[in-house]
Amino acid sequence: MVILLIIDILTLFPEMFSGPLTSSILKRAQERGLIIFNLVNIRDFSTNKHHTVDDTPYGGGAGMVICPEPVFGAIEHILALRRQISRRRVSLLCPQGRPLDQTLAADLAQEDHLVLICGHYEGIDERVREKLVTDEISIGDYILTGGELPAMVVADAVARLIPGVLGEDTSTEEESFSEGLLEYPQYTRPREYHGMTVPDVLLSGHHEDIRKWRRRQSLMRTLARRPDLFAQVVLDNEDKAILRKVLYDLQGLDLS
Ligand SMILES: C[S@@+](CC[C@H](N)C(=O)[O-])C[C@H]1O[C@@H](n2cnc3c(N)ncnc32)[C@H](O)[C@@H]1O
Repeated sequence: MVILLIIDILTLFPEMFSGPLTSSILKRAQERGLIIFNLVNIRDFSTNKHHTVDDTPYGGGAGMVICPEPVFGAIEHILALRRQISRRRVSLLCPQGRPLDQTLAADLAQEDHLVLICGHYEGIDERVREKLVTDEISIGDYILTGGELPAMVVADAVARLIPGVLGEDTSTEEESFSEGLLEYPQYTRPREYHGMTVPDVLLSGHHEDIRKWRRRQSLMRTLARRPDLFAQVVLDNEDKAILRKVLYDLQGLDLS
């Protein structure tokens, strides 16, 4: 099996990753040799005798800032180690970065090598961003204590898009966001549970009816929960006809 992606994660708290990277699908992806996750402790690159990595901010203010030296040291070490790889992104997890979405995850999954840098405390000295970082990624408009959870989110979202990681028969193409819409409802056995039944069409074995039902459900869910997503979706004539009917049924609106 060929290694398809190497993800180096630079952090002050490598122990935080042991659960997510050693369980379930991400564990299996590593065992199969599809992905390598490598944790790099930024503290190992501290050059002072107490191995400190942070200091007070110039100009005053609360909290501590991670110094540039150990982060430069860690990144330069990784770049030297992986010098034979050319397709690479060096990404800083940062609330000011580009919001992570399925498009960005798919984009990152095309690379051969990702370096994810986790900030902590008040963040990392700005010169790291200026000199070494190619991307800044945010996982949402809220502030976490560190970049470790965001790095796990990015690693998971990207890893499952690597061919073979989810298994040969599992497709990511019909999932929420992959075509810009939310996914249709899913059911499994039993056929009836607590008086609730599975929609008849899913038991019919009629593939075209099932496809149409799922498409209609996707469109209805997106309309009800995330109408903003329609700004990015290319709708065909069948979709437009479904939406016209849904809106007419719901609101008595005739958009024809
Ligand atoms: C407490 S935060 C620092 C926030 C920074 N002082 C600011 O106002 O932008 C510490 C670290 O957590 C990470 N972090 C926090 N929230 C994040 C988010 N929403 N997305 C990505 N990373 C985040 C970043 O690595 C950041 O350097």
